[in-house]
Amino acid sequence: MANCKRIGILTAGGDCPGLNAVIRGVVKSAGTHGYEVIGFLKGYEGLVDPVTFIPLTHKNTTGILSQGGTILGSTNKGRFAATVGVNDRLELDPELVAGVKTTVEQLNLEGLICVGGDGSLAVAQQFHEQGIPVVGVPKTIDNDLSSTAFTFGFFSAVFCATDALDRLHTTAASHERVMVLEVMGRHAGWIALYAGTAGGGDVILIPEIPWTFEGVCQAIIQREQRGKKFTLVVVAEGAELPDGGFVTQDKQECQKQVRLGGIGAFVAQEIERRLGKETRTVVLGHLQRGGAPTTFDRVLGTQFGAHAVRLIVERKFGHMVTYQPPDMNAVPIIDAITLASVCPNCSAVQAARALGICFGDDYRELPFKCAPAKGESAVHRGANGSATKKRGRQRQST
Ligand code: F6P
Repeated sequence: MANCKRIGILTAGGDCPGLNAVIRGVVKSAGTHGYEVIGFLKGYEGLVDPVTFIPLTHKNTTGILSQGGTILGSTNKGRFAATVGVNDRLELDPELVAGVKTTVEQLNLEGLICVGGDGSLAVAQQFHEQGIPVVGVPKTIDNDLSSTAFTFGFFSAVFCATDALDRLHTTAASHERVMVLEVMGRHAGWIALYAGTAGGGDVILIPEIPWTFEGVCQAIIQREQRGKKFTLVVVAEGAELPDGGFVTQDKQECQKQVRLGGIGAFVAQEIERRLGKETRTVVLGHLQRGGAPTTFDRVLGTQFGAHAVRLIVERKFGHMVTYQPPDMNAVPIIDAITLASVCPNCSAVQAARALGICFGDDYRELPFKCAPAKGESAVHRGANGSATKKRGRQRQST
């Protein structure tokens, strides 16, 4: 037992389609390299007080490739928090880190694979700084990690949101309504941009492109003038309001991560108020994180798992696997945990604009009169939401 070659793996932060594909990829590839694998339970929590893990074998990972969630469980807001807000470092409790070191030594681990988003990988980075042999795997539906073209889970979320748009399209057209779909993504607009493009969205509102209600309403009216009596609006949960605030679920407090959500209802209500046009909202929420991974995410997760083991074999600790098409590479974790936003001039945005998709930013004086705006300040709170003034972007561990 003491002399066997062994690696550990954990899945941290929010669940995400493709986590099990990574676990299976690690176990299979570790076997090829002569390692046995143990999986810590509930993310970082399983590393210490109490240490909880299971052996991972071919037998107990068979058939998990297509399953959503994670067989190891995960924790989003536990004892291990290394960030607050975007890129703001929070020091881990030194006693916890010392406990993790002891666990890694006592279990004779040659490496620990940490699968997570920006917040979870920030924890891995602090482990690395304390000499714990970690490698990272980029996970998040938000696709907001730098240095990798895509994170696994992203296309599964986009698939879900696209399917929702296909369905909303029929109701919108039948009833000549405006339908607003709110999607996740935190402070990046990737899901909204890709789903809006794939699902035939007419207006896409994302955090990276400032927009106005005049711009949105003008796009709806112009469609009507062309005989299109309905409009599909896709709004990212983190899209900033025209006056610079976010719509959130909780009251924002210092040192606390905000839960975004509610902007869809806010946008819908304002469209209806300004245009007098029947407008409905759908908030897709955690449906985007659930269910089976798409083909692409199974492939990406599997390859990430295999390459994470390779990094341990090569003793490239403190690195994260990245997909830089067509290659799988590695970058220092510290370089990967900064926010990867949609570039407002990127080719995906240009293509969308070329198709006539409106980002709510190209308002020109209308030849007709809208109802006057309620004033510049956004005061509506959404169903459960509260409008929050921007105080530095908040990002939560994933
Ligand atoms: O980061 C993934 C994500 O799903 C975000 O898109 C969303 O804002 C957040 O997690 C929701 O987190 P929770 O499940 O903790 O509410």
